[in-house]
Amino acid sequence: MTRAVSTDLLSLARTIALEAGALAFRRRAEGVNIAASKSSPEDVVTDADREVETLIRARLADARPHDGFYGEESEATAGSSGLTWVVDPIDGTVNYLYGIPHYAVSIAVVAGDPAPSSWTALAGAVINPALGELYTAAAGEGSFLNDRPLKVKTGVPLSLALAGTGFGYEAPRRLWQAAVVQGLIGEVRDIRRMGAAALDLCAVATGRLDVYYERGLQPWDHAAGALVAAEAGAKVGAFGADSEGKDLLIAAAPDLYLAFEPLLAGLFARLARE
Ligand code: IPD
Repeated sequence: MTRAVSTDLLSLARTIALEAGALAFRRRAEGVNIAASKSSPEDVVTDADREVETLIRARLADARPHDGFYGEESEATAGSSGLTWVVDPIDGTVNYLYGIPHYAVSIAVVAGDPAPSSWTALAGAVINPALGELYTAAAGEGSFLNDRPLKVKTGVPLSLALAGTGFGYEAPRRLWQAAVVQGLIGEVRDIRRMGAAALDLCAVATGRLDVYYERGLQPWDHAAGALVAAEAGAKVGAFGADSEGKDLLIAAAPDLYLAFEPLLAGLFARLARE
């Protein structure tokens, strides 16, 4: 993929993210309606999630009719170009529902099989419309918050690291995730659960978090944010698939990653024995 192509893809992702973010923001101001629940009663989809995804899908179909589409709220379609758009219309749906100004539209384009273990992310845009913050990245071209280039903070020792994580929607998964947090809280500066994985990954890029980890994410939760973090110099890795085959994702500056990964692996091993 040439540099010009990645830049064109990024420009499209950026333009659509701005329009979709504005729509999500407007709908939030008008009042949010729950359309249905998904994996559990807590896992909801709003009318706005569906409307925003429909808009993104239509814009992509117009501009890139031969690409595939893989989004949270509608059926995936394969394309013939080898590229797939991986889209979360509203990441941080529960924040959105409660009017907490921490949610995002996330749009990435990947080459190859649209599976996180094998795809190559080419470009991504993540927008928090409530704060007017647009994160963008293209492979090999760095990442940006609005116009500001991003670079991860290095030299943070584990004991002073601010860690972010998230919880799934099903009770057994959450209980396991809470047990991991219990093992971790004494080893790091503190832990945040901010509620939007795409923004957590971007927070590693800006230095608002030192490390982010979560097990059980969906591909659309992390496709764009992981590229923003990686292009800012973070190491983004995965290990230890759970029973559903979803890996644990970790993003941190490379030096912190080296210290953090064995700590988590040790916690997982201990929990598995208990
Ligand atoms: C959720 C958020 C949350 C993370 C969950 C995700 P959604 O996505 O990213 O922070 O902890 O694992 O499912 O449902 O708001 O799109």
